[in-house]
Amino acid sequence: MRICLMGFGAVGQGVAKVVSQKKDYLLKNYGMDLKIVAVTDSSGAAISQEGLDPELLLKVKLESGKVSDYPEMGVKAIDGLDVLDKVEYDCLVEVTPTNIEHGEPAKSLTIKAIKNKKDVVTSNKGHLALFFSELMDLSQENGVEFKFEASVGGAMPILNFAQETLPGNEIKSILGILNGTTNFILSRMTAEGSSYEHTLQESQQLGIAETDPTQDVEGIDAACKTVILANAILGIDCTLKDVQVTGISRITSEAIDLAKKDGYLIKLMAEVSPDSLNVSPRLVREDSPYAVDGTLNMATLKTDLADDVTVVGKGAGSIETASAILSDLVNIWKSKKI
Ligand code: HSE
Repeated sequence: MRICLMGFGAVGQGVAKVVSQKKDYLLKNYGMDLKIVAVTDSSGAAISQEGLDPELLLKVKLESGKVSDYPEMGVKAIDGLDVLDKVEYDCLVEVTPTNIEHGEPAKSLTIKAIKNKKDVVTSNKGHLALFFSELMDLSQENGVEFKFEASVGGAMPILNFAQETLPGNEIKSILGILNGTTNFILSRMTAEGSSYEHTLQESQQLGIAETDPTQDVEGIDAACKTVILANAILGIDCTLKDVQVTGISRITSEAIDLAKKDGYLIKLMAEVSPDSLNVSPRLVREDSPYAVDGTLNMATLKTDLADDVTVVGKGAGSIETASAILSDLVNIWKSKKI
């Protein structure tokens, strides 16, 4: 399977590491020869029809910061859309930074790949939160797979879990923690009394915060994920503007201490139901399934047959997100045997 990897930040580099680490495993277990034939970042691209060396890509990126410095196969200042014309590939792996104003460049890259009958896997939330139904309709019209497990909750299994493990159940609502950065900040403030500003800086250093961290702390990232779950799991046709959002930037250490004294924690909760699309800080009991710490995400799915089902997992991080991307790639491979 030949992939074009668009974006080489924390998630893109995680994908390169996972491709390198799992190459033999994938070949042995699925007969899947996973090759990266192009990678882009803001400097340009590296392109090779025979496949790029993931370890060399990582080394070049670490040393110069530019994939376009890849020996012999680097191309300076080339646009991602043009890269898609320069190489033969089976699947676009789109991991550029989320944009919630216009969803670009993810939207145009995705549309181009789908129209060219290529499958698409993404961790991006912007274009999904703004244009979910248009993009799904387009992928169905073109008979290609469009998968986005990594866009919600990093390594926490939720989309494929709901669709493939709980078929036959009606999922009535979802309540959960869908942002790792804010959960990390709130957990640190609760456990150690660390300041909001200090902990936010720490989460940026860990590479879990968005390029623009206000998207995390103001609840916008969780709202994008709310839209994705609403559309993909509950079949609610909605976009970002339909979600009521309150972030955590006004949560004080005093409020956290007060809650703690009564056995409660403050968490940024996302509610997805036909009656409510809402992201806001809420009090949860210390002994409830919502009391997960650090970068963990969780979600309780209310179903008609299985009752409540709760999933938990690392909601952010380079390798964790790459794990969800790999699961989509393997599922596409198994369904198509490209
Ligand atoms: N910034 C996001 C988070 C990354 O903190 O959850 C994963 O979507």
